[in-house]
Amino acid sequence: MDNFISVIEELYKSKNWKKIVETYHNHPERNRVLWVYPSEENFVFLKACLNELHNDSVLSIGCGSGLLEWMITEATGIPVSGVEIDKAWWHCKYAPPTFIPLILTSKEPEDRLKQRLHQSDNTALLFCYFNNRTSFEEYIKYYSGNTLIIIGPGDGKNVHTDPKPFDDIEEPWKLYKSQEVRDSKDFIAVYCKI
Ligand SMILES: C[S@@+](CC[C@H](N)C(=O)[O-])C[C@H]1O[C@@H](n2cnc3c(N)ncnc32)[C@H](O)[C@@H]1O
Repeated sequence: MDNFISVIEELYKSKNWKKIVETYHNHPERNRVLWVYPSEENFVFLKACLNELHNDSVLSIGCGSGLLEWMITEATGIPVSGVEIDKAWWHCKYAPPTFIPLILTSKEPEDRLKQRLHQSDNTALLFCYFNNRTSFEEYIKYYSGNTLIIIGPGDGKNVHTDPKPFDDIEEPWKLYKSQEVRDSKDFIAVYCKI
């Protein structure tokens, strides 16, 4: 029996996202299902940004298990969908559990996804611990909305992601607001189009 995973699954079934983030944000096995465990205050911040920038949904690219996306939906009431690559991995028996239905795509966004990105005027685009600059640029190229959220490590954390939350995003994007995730040296950086 895999205890960590089964406890998270039980809390998910009982919709207890608060206990997931409060109890497991420092757990040694936490990265098996998610890299960042926001606090309640972080979710309030995210919801305020999404409202201020007139978003009624979020599309998360490279969502992994989708645990964060499910928790954002529960905590803010704003629906979050998630995109992943590698169909074979996500259907294999060693893959982590998934907490939302995944939109699976090939490396380049497939036509249906390109179309969705094109029609995303009120949808924020989220990248959490994403690590593929070329793909990031591709997704951004097709995205029609005005809100980009990058969650990842700040300079002091010595972990690499691409893009990073700060000093890595060019015009027409401008930093709107940011907040540290607890005292983890991870940051939620919200960008809007100039
Ligand atoms: C470090 S993991 C982060 C997963 C999750 N966002 C989290 O914070 O736990 C990066 C994820 O991005 C996915 N990924 C990489 N390139 C991608 C692409 N072109 N389109 C969609 N997902 C991609 C990987 O499969 C992987 O699950």
